[in-house]
Amino acid sequence: MSVSQPHGGTLINRLNEAYDLSNAKKEVELDDFALSDLELIGNGAFSPLTGFLSEADYQSVVENMRLADGTVWSIPITLPVTEEVANQLEIGEEVKLVKDGIVYGVIELTEKFIPNKEKEAENVYRTTDLAHPGVKKLFERPNVYLAGPITQVNRVEQERFKEFYLDPTETRAQFKELGWKRVVGFQTRNPVHRAHEYIQKSALEIVDGLFLNPLVGETKSDDIPADVRMESYQVLLENYYPKNRVFLAVFPAAMRYAGPREAIFHAMVRKNYGCTHFIVGRDHAGVGDYYGTYDAQLIFSNFTEDELGILPLFFEHSFYCKKCGNMASTKTCPHSKEDHVILSGTKVREMLANGLTPPPEFSRAEVVEVLIRGMRSKVQA
Ligand code: ADX
Repeated sequence: MSVSQPHGGTLINRLNEAYDLSNAKKEVELDDFALSDLELIGNGAFSPLTGFLSEADYQSVVENMRLADGTVWSIPITLPVTEEVANQLEIGEEVKLVKDGIVYGVIELTEKFIPNKEKEAENVYRTTDLAHPGVKKLFERPNVYLAGPITQVNRVEQERFKEFYLDPTETRAQFKELGWKRVVGFQTRNPVHRAHEYIQKSALEIVDGLFLNPLVGETKSDDIPADVRMESYQVLLENYYPKNRVFLAVFPAAMRYAGPREAIFHAMVRKNYGCTHFIVGRDHAGVGDYYGTYDAQLIFSNFTEDELGILPLFFEHSFYCKKCGNMASTKTCPHSKEDHVILSGTKVREMLANGLTPPPEFSRAEVVEVLIRGMRSKVQA
């Protein structure tokens, strides 16, 4: 496999900063979620999407994990507005997409429709429980979906880590320059702990490069903030990874916590960034107990290798084994649970918040230091 084809065959580019806005008289206010979707459609990360889903595409994605034309797509990308806002808009007109007084895009309105959110929740999240953060978000957002192609007319100004915001055309060019043909993508919304490092490095043994691509869009409030994580990634890479084998860039998407469906989505997007392989470990993009440990791996069997166009690399739940004296999984370690160092994300966050240091078998000391300092400054702020 050489550098991957974009999903759907063509890398979409909907950015046009010189776009003439004079036909767009009305405007719609975006939430953070919709703004990040707009950006990712604009820069081609969501190829082949050119806008917010039509009703036919939406139904097809919800029911079959495919766009209406059959292309694999597992998460609905929608633009919800209130009925009041929707009633003021005419089909066929151009509408400005605005956030805090800045026009970020224009939608050519082709449809407005009322989704069946119960069904969306049941199919996409496998639950209608409002305690699920993705479902909660789905029901909190307004009830009419606008559809149509978009043009992005302004980019979001980044205050921090600007150099880590790269478009798919740029990451593709970087991989090429580095001479990487086989690139493995790694999605994360957490600091990189030893288990992450273990699976990344296991993958690195068989490919040319690792694309460390942390999600930095909206996450639930108890996840570790993106800026603290970014610092932790840098200190880890500096100390423990060969420089010419890892490329760090952010994924400015919102987290859905849709587990299996989100794993497919994450893989498709990383294919657009130029990855040929994608890591799916334990409970990928999961939350609480909503998904089985390996559901996000099993879901890939619904599609052929050709349809996916990126090779998922599945990893078992990994841990440090005191008897083995190294990282392992049940595939490689014969010892019992008592010998394994396993901490839940919640437990680790609790420890960090209280200034306690998770053991070195769980997390590198340099990473822990950044996290404790970062979490303290958040508490004080
Ligand atoms: S996620 O929501 O972005 O999936 P996280 O950042 O924790 O959460 O996970 C990043 C990737 O590492 C996912 O593919 C996940 O399945 C995998 N992963 C996390 N922890 C482990 C572990 N202990 N063993 C194996 N895979 C893991």
